[in-house]
Amino acid sequence: MKEEKLQELLHSLTWTEKVGQLVQLSGEFFNTSALTVGPQQKLGISDDILKNVGSVLNVAGAIKTSEIQQQYLENSNHKIPLLFMADIIYGYRTVFPIPLGLGATWNPELIEEAYTVIGKESQAGGAHVTFAPMVDLVRDARWGRCLESTGEDSLLNSAFASSMVRGLQKDLDKQKGIASCVKHFAAYGAAEAGREYNTVDMSERKLRQDYLPSYKAAIDAGCKMVMTSFNTYDGVPVTGNEFILKDILRDEWGFDGVLISDYAAVRELIDHGIAEDNKEAAYLAIKATNDIDMKSPCYANELQPLLNEGRIDGALIDQAVLRVLKLKNDLGLFDDPYRGTNEVIEKETLLKEEHRTLAKQVTAESIVLLKNDNELLPLDPQANEKILLVGPYGDNQELIGLWAVHGKTTDTISIKTGIEAYLKPENFQVEKGCDMLESYEFLGEFGATKDMIDSLSMSDKEKAQYLTQALTAAEKADIIIFAMGEHTMQSGEAGSRTDIRLPQIQRDFMKQLVKLGKKTVLLSISGRPLILTEEADTIDAILQVWFPGTEGGHAIADILFGKSNPSGRLSMSFPYSVGQLPIYYNEFKTGRPLTSSTHSGRFVSKYLDSPNTPLFPFGYGLSYSDIQYTELTVSDTIMTDELTISVQIKNNSTRDCLETVQLYIQDVVGSVVRPVKELKQFKKITVAGNSTTTVSFTLTRDELNYYTRSMHYAVENGTFLVFVGPNSQDTLEASFELV
Ligand code: NOJ
Repeated sequence: MKEEKLQELLHSLTWTEKVGQLVQLSGEFFNTSALTVGPQQKLGISDDILKNVGSVLNVAGAIKTSEIQQQYLENSNHKIPLLFMADIIYGYRTVFPIPLGLGATWNPELIEEAYTVIGKESQAGGAHVTFAPMVDLVRDARWGRCLESTGEDSLLNSAFASSMVRGLQKDLDKQKGIASCVKHFAAYGAAEAGREYNTVDMSERKLRQDYLPSYKAAIDAGCKMVMTSFNTYDGVPVTGNEFILKDILRDEWGFDGVLISDYAAVRELIDHGIAEDNKEAAYLAIKATNDIDMKSPCYANELQPLLNEGRIDGALIDQAVLRVLKLKNDLGLFDDPYRGTNEVIEKETLLKEEHRTLAKQVTAESIVLLKNDNELLPLDPQANEKILLVGPYGDNQELIGLWAVHGKTTDTISIKTGIEAYLKPENFQVEKGCDMLESYEFLGEFGATKDMIDSLSMSDKEKAQYLTQALTAAEKADIIIFAMGEHTMQSGEAGSRTDIRLPQIQRDFMKQLVKLGKKTVLLSISGRPLILTEEADTIDAILQVWFPGTEGGHAIADILFGKSNPSGRLSMSFPYSVGQLPIYYNEFKTGRPLTSSTHSGRFVSKYLDSPNTPLFPFGYGLSYSDIQYTELTVSDTIMTDELTISVQIKNNSTRDCLETVQLYIQDVVGSVVRPVKELKQFKKITVAGNSTTTVSFTLTRDELNYYTRSMHYAVENGTFLVFVGPNSQDTLEASFELV
């Protein structure tokens, strides 16, 4: 439809019809036969608005969506199709690793392919928009939503943000893929104390320097929608914050797509205490240019009264409605409200073999080898050694994590199944060993009944029996593989925790087996960086496998037995203790650094009881190859426009590997304090066995820009240090002058 036609359509709508376009409700409001009865009473939304609601939250499936669409259109005056929006965060039916694992691939091109698959499957499943990517920068592992983020660095996050948007929206105009909604704008990842839904308070400098770039990258990649965040910024909740939404997003960045509130965030302006009632909340949000009110009664009931009272201009509503209509038009919904899918297409598209193959590759690249004493890994499947797989995740398909709501655990390859393909049955034993958690009571908060909770927990008798069986099997084993981790419900949204070690029951169990002195491997399954300090002392080899997704078991086994060489690198620091949080590699320099030449001993910036550095730093990860970095060279001592920085990478082993070469800088003196290191570029390359490769980076003047004291994004002349290495800590160093 042409723009003029859309304008005509807009002007033919009544105010009720217009407001309807700005309201999003969830599935229970669209239950089959009766569109006008049911839970709308709870929100107190009138039948008139309900009949004209513009979008649906989290209903997916070709049959369900087309039924709702068809019935809705039958009752609609103007035949404006519904938009189906859903949380498809890291997989629809084929589930990829959680985004923190995707971040660990350091491979945005590969992730673009993954998100192309996600777009295809979602489109086939009847979804039109996904609330992804989530690009919040994260520095505090207590926050459960680290799971959804690609990590702690704005450059890396930005690279993933654009590749995810490109993947999801590939061929959008040809009815392929789906529209992307970047979230949670802005700075949601900085919730104080890592506590979900908590306050964010930071300087504008920090906001612009570290937190905003990834959202901007998504928008520059053409992302159609933006979701507001639940948090405050500078005392004002974002959903009603004109500085964040209007000044930055709309005016400065020129974003003219749809802006949607997070779930009930408009109404929550009342709980935040900046609006007295629903009407005031609606007023603040629409004035801040928020277009759609997700799951709250504020727009539905209050926009018209605000208009009638002359408090808001009709043009404000018209602009918002036009943005929604444009999105529907861009998606081709006016031509085909079913967007080219049906039950048959859905069936053909979901979980195709090629999707599984890609998921396996992505998972393999997401796994991070944290420790490998005496080169225990890879295991030799022909060695005739007895291998025991033990722990709550050994024989378990619950490997897709909290936000894979359309995925099925029954499609998932368990670790047991993955390993079985490599070993003779007589060499492989699987034991449960211990319970996942000491208590499942907390699941009550997520709706589990007492009976469900009781059925999950092992009785004391079972615990004793499983322990005895595991100990007996361990005595006979040469190698013990522990498959341990967080429960799915312990990370993700509303999964903030203060003790982020492995559950006590699992740690106690591991100790008993470790005592036997066998070779040990830990597969750590989690949605966040766990505190693995104890395990790093006692276990021989550790693989961080995240929630690895549908192909988890295959990818893990391929790594264990050396078919894949681990190449994942942490995109978020793994702390030594929870007391270090928040922790991140690109911290500011302090006046009294640990290495101070003028102060020593006590009066430097440090803890009395812990190192400053994390247990495993940003960028870190081992492989099965022996890699050496040498001969860092900078093409000139002076930079005017650009410089070439090169390093030699030698693979001293016979095994080819994927190496992620990382380039950091430090701006030695600035008009404001600069970070100790900042990632500027990275390259993931293959280094063949027994070979040496030269890797070169062209670093340009523009890449040295930052927010100066006067808040200009500019470069300042002076000395820069440049660091290249396999992670943020172990780097070679050189320098140059910018003139
Ligand atoms: C709340 C979450 O914060 C957001 O990420 C999600 O997209 C919405 N709910 C919709 O489910």
